[in-house]
Amino acid sequence: MSQEKRKELLDKAYQSIAEKKDKVENDYYRLQYHVMPPAGWLNDPNGFIQFDGVYHLFYQFHPWAPESGLKYWGHYTSQNLVNWEEQPIALTPSKWYETHGCYSGSAVDDDGVLTLMYTGNVKDDGVRSSYQCLVTSADGINFKKSEGNPVIDKQPEGYTAHFRDPKVWKKDGTWYLVIGAQTVAEEGRVLLYKSANLKEWDLIGEVVGSNLNGLDNFGYMWECPDLFTLGEKEVLIVLPQGLEAQGDLYNNIYQAGYLVGELDYETGEFNHGEFIELDRGFDFYAAQTTLDQQGRRIMIAWMGMPEEDEKYAERENGWIHAMTLPRVLELREDNKLIQKPVPELKQLRQEKIDYKKVKIKDEELELDQICGDVVELIAEFEIEDASEFGIKVRCAQDGSEETVIKYDTNNQKLSLNRNKSGRGESGIRRCLLESDSMVKLHLFIDTSSLELFANEGEEVFSSRLYPSKESQGIKFFAQDGQVTLKKVTKWNL
Ligand code: FRU
Repeated sequence: MSQEKRKELLDKAYQSIAEKKDKVENDYYRLQYHVMPPAGWLNDPNGFIQFDGVYHLFYQFHPWAPESGLKYWGHYTSQNLVNWEEQPIALTPSKWYETHGCYSGSAVDDDGVLTLMYTGNVKDDGVRSSYQCLVTSADGINFKKSEGNPVIDKQPEGYTAHFRDPKVWKKDGTWYLVIGAQTVAEEGRVLLYKSANLKEWDLIGEVVGSNLNGLDNFGYMWECPDLFTLGEKEVLIVLPQGLEAQGDLYNNIYQAGYLVGELDYETGEFNHGEFIELDRGFDFYAAQTTLDQQGRRIMIAWMGMPEEDEKYAERENGWIHAMTLPRVLELREDNKLIQKPVPELKQLRQEKIDYKKVKIKDEELELDQICGDVVELIAEFEIEDASEFGIKVRCAQDGSEETVIKYDTNNQKLSLNRNKSGRGESGIRRCLLESDSMVKLHLFIDTSSLELFANEGEEVFSSRLYPSKESQGIKFFAQDGQVTLKKVTKWNL
C-alpha cells in the first residue's frame, strides 16, 4: 500500500517539476551559485553531511508548487561545496507516520552507513502527531525507512506535539540527539536524548538547565536545534518563535540564534551565555551545521523566512527560496561565533579588478568596471572623519533602485537598507559593529541575493533582493568627511 502511495507521490512530484521547467529556467532571479529547488518550494537544509568524501545536502521540499505544502526531502550532492548536483528525491511522505510531511532532520555516518533521522508529521482532523524516524542508505542515493519506525513514538509527558527536527551526533561511542519541543504551557524547549544503537532512545532532559539561564518565556516554540562542540565549548543553535522585536534585535518573524556554554551530558544541564542572533539580514532561518572530514564546522541555512511567501518574487515563476552560501564557523575567545564563507568559493572567481588607496570625501564614487549582478566584492575602509560611509549595490542608472550598506561611525552601527532594492519587502536591518579604524565589507551578490560578511565574519547579513536586471551599478560613498578605500577587489562569479 505504501509502495503505491510512494509511486503516486513521486510521479506527481516529478511531473510538477517538469511542467515548470521552462518558466523556472527563464527567470532572471534564478540564482547563479546558490542551492535552489529545481521547481516548487524549498525550506530548511536537512541531513547536511560529508560522507565518503561527498557533501550531501538534503532539504525540505514541496515539489508541487511554490508554496509550503506536503514536504518531501530533496537532495543535492557536491564534491566541493560550490557545484551541486541534483539527486533523486530522497524521502517521500508515503507512510502512516508521515502523512503530512517528512519534516526536518539530520544525517550521521553509522559505521559506514549513511543514516538519516527526521520527523514524521501527521495531522488527523487538524490534530498533530510527531514521530521520529530512521532511514538508511546503502548507496547514498536510495533510502530505506526502518521497519522499526517510529523510533521515538510521540513526545514525552509535559510537552505538546510540536516536537520535531532531531539533530543527531556521536560522542564517546554513544549517540545523542537534540530535538525542538514545546511545553504544555507553550514555551519553547530543547530536549536531549541518548541511544546505544540509534533505534532505542532515552530522554536525558531539557538542554537548557532547570533555571533556564534567563530563557524562560523566550518564545512559544524552539525549532531545529543543533548542538555541537567548537573549541572547548558547546554551541546550541536554536530557532525561537514568538520573540518581540527589541530595537535592532529580533526583527524577523522568527529568530535564528545561538547560545555558547558547557553541556552536562548526564543531565542535559547547559550553563550558557546570552542568546545571539546568527545573522542580521532579512532572510535567514533553520541553520544546520556539520563537521566535515577536514574537521571544519560548516553551516548552511535557509535564505528565507516562513509564512511570508509574498516577499519572494520568484514564486511567480514556479519556484521559491534558496540556501545561503556555506560558512565555516569559529568561536572567538569572547564566545562570539565568527562566520566565514568557505574558501572553496574562490573557485568561482573570474575577471579580477582592484583599486588601492581611493579617497572618498562627501561624495558618491563609481569605479570603472566595478559593477555587476553576480559578483564578489571586498572593500576595506580606513575610517577617517566621515560620519557615515559605505557601498550601494544593484544601483539603477536613474537612481530609482539601490541597496545601501552603511556604517555609522558615531554609533558604530552597520546597516542594510532595502527600501529602494526593487520588488519584495523594504526595510532596514542594523547591528552593532565595534570598530575605530577599519571596516572590511565582503559581499556576495547574486541575481536576487546579497550576503555581507563584515570584519572577517564578525557579523553577517543575508537577504534576498529583487532589483531589475539592468540595476548593476556599485557606488562607494562618504558623508560629512572622508574615508580611504584602502583596497577594493571585485570578481565576476
Ligand atoms: C522550520 C520548520 C521545522 C519543520 C519544517 C517543516 O522551518 O518549521 O520545524 O520540521 O520547517 O517544513
